[in-house]
Amino acid sequence: AVGGSVAEAQVASIAEPLLLNAVRGDDVERPPVWLMRQAGRYMKSYQTLCERYPSFRERSENVDLVVEISLQPWKVFKPDGVILFSDILTPLSGMNIPFDIVKGKGPVIFDPLQTADDVGQVREFVPQESVPYVGEALTILRKEVDNKAAVLGFVGAPFTLASYVVEGGSSKHFSKIKRLAFSQPKVLHALLQKFTTSMTKYIRYQADSGAQAVQIFDSWATELSPVDFEEFSLPYLKQIVDAVKETHPDLPLILYASGSGGLLERLALTGVDVVSLDWTVDMAEGRRRLGPNIAVQGNVDPGVLFGSKEFITSRINDTVRKAGRGKHILNLGHGIVVGTPEENVAHFFEVAKDIRY
Ligand code: CP3
Repeated sequence: AVGGSVAEAQVASIAEPLLLNAVRGDDVERPPVWLMRQAGRYMKSYQTLCERYPSFRERSENVDLVVEISLQPWKVFKPDGVILFSDILTPLSGMNIPFDIVKGKGPVIFDPLQTADDVGQVREFVPQESVPYVGEALTILRKEVDNKAAVLGFVGAPFTLASYVVEGGSSKHFSKIKRLAFSQPKVLHALLQKFTTSMTKYIRYQADSGAQAVQIFDSWATELSPVDFEEFSLPYLKQIVDAVKETHPDLPLILYASGSGGLLERLALTGVDVVSLDWTVDMAEGRRRLGPNIAVQGNVDPGVLFGSKEFITSRINDTVRKAGRGKHILNLGHGIVVGTPEENVAHFFEVAKDIRY
């Protein structure tokens, strides 16, 4: 509302999705709510679509399918955030790192990176050329959702992306990326810098295409000890946040890391607007440790959705009470789990949307 009257500014803020108001610290009547991985396999409609389109790459790289899948939870649950259906690995093929997501196995990187030479082969990402369907889908989603919810984009953080491309897929002990970090740190730093520059561009591209907030997933950064987090993750996250804030100062950035209880104060140092907590930290403590300027998201154990309706209700109320009024986005502490009953998800959203501070 630059240069506008106060009345205009008020109208503008009323027209804005609740999620954006909440992040900015406006006086909202309830916390906005969405669920990580809200589009996907726990939904019958998604499973049906998977039968017709068995390839994850196709489902996530075709504009019509991306829009349809992103809107599946929106149509049923009316969350306050509609996240793009995609994957953190989607940019990899455009960076010359062939990959697939295989049913029952998860991500597969065909030629895991090992050497300085391998890292040298990684191309910088040009979103407009490599993933035009992402921009198109975001633009359509923005029209469809029409500010009744916030359209959310997302990217993988440099360390988490590096862990996939070095390990070759999901990992238990992260031994390959740690071997690289602790024996050839320069090689890893070169890779992290490529992802940093690429993901900065990707966030800007998503915002320019219609995303109203962007979540950065550093899911596995917490595999690092604090001192190693400070070397291999924090500086790159900070670089991304600083660069995006320069060109898109009003774009809220959300940061998620799984198991981040030991790192919360360091996550706050990245400069993000929202930190998404997992369930291993108490919401009230997390809030206190992050300080008043950062909004909080998440924290409900995804396993709670396997409990009774009364149990789900009580956990929602508990989280909302502990988060306190404002600057809170109700969400799970990690992605919704396959097999979660859809009716429990419906109940979660009903209870959440009836909350009044
Ligand atoms: O939240 C949403 O609904 C948007 C969609 C989304 C997906 N992946 C779709 C997906 C998002 C935000 C992601 C992010 C993602 N992908 C992360 C960060 C979040 C987290 O969970 O920590 C990570 C680490 C990945 C990498 C990835 N992609 C893994 C480990 C897997 C396998 C998971 C499994 O259970 O098989 C994927 C595949 C994937 N990405 C699926 C979905 C819905 C499941 C496969 C399928 O539906 O066919």
